[in-house]
Amino acid sequence: MAHSNQTPKGHERIETSNFLMIVLILLAVAVGGLVEIVPLFFQRSTTQPVEGLKPYTALQLAGRDVYIREGCYNCHSQMIRPFRSETLRYGPYSKAGEFVYDHPFQWGSKRTGPDLHRVGGKYNDEWHRLHLISPRSLVPESNMPAYPWLENAQIDPASMAPRLKALRTLGVPYTDEEVKASGEAVKGKTELDALVAYLQVLGTAVK
Ligand code: HEC
Repeated sequence: MAHSNQTPKGHERIETSNFLMIVLILLAVAVGGLVEIVPLFFQRSTTQPVEGLKPYTALQLAGRDVYIREGCYNCHSQMIRPFRSETLRYGPYSKAGEFVYDHPFQWGSKRTGPDLHRVGGKYNDEWHRLHLISPRSLVPESNMPAYPWLENAQIDPASMAPRLKALRTLGVPYTDEEVKASGEAVKGKTELDALVAYLQVLGTAVK
């Protein structure tokens, strides 16, 4: 019971002061957050690549950049959650170690279209090419936009080495040879080739 002529004590003191309430809530949230987040930085299963994970090839990496530029993540997640409904539809759930070379990762949270984390190998290259150029030619009810210009846009070979080097500063283990060969690897390739190469490797490190 509050007695108006007494100064409030204990909990009542906190609950009747906006300032104390706000400061203590922030403190509780900060401590709670840190306790959950900080251990993950030191846990092998979240910081080490899963066995068999390889850095993206130059072509796949160029495709990944197209994926980001075109905003595919606005409709597609790459994060299969560990629920039966998800694993039945998409395959094994996503593991943190599969994304250690992804800077930035493409987990996403919006699913206008299906999750793409394990789309690698689900269709052949030709299916992807047709689907990206004209989604409704393959899936009549699709509301996915068409990306016909990707077929006519070339990847600039000179742009590749800086991309690999930038990722190397973030810990992706590209060798000097890979950096040097990266331009040659995308010569004559279109953005469509690159994007399909990227889609086809998604989620394939885990069997
Ligand atoms: C406006 C939302 C939207 C955007 C943006 C979008 N998609 Fe889609 N996507 C869909 C929908 C809806 C489907 C399901 C129908 C279909 O297959 O076309 C789909 C299906 C797909 C599939 C087939 C998945 C499967 O398992 O069958 C692939 C691959 C795909 N999209 C890739 C892409 C890529 C790459 C981009 C960016 C260049 C992109 N999407 C952009 C909505 C979108």
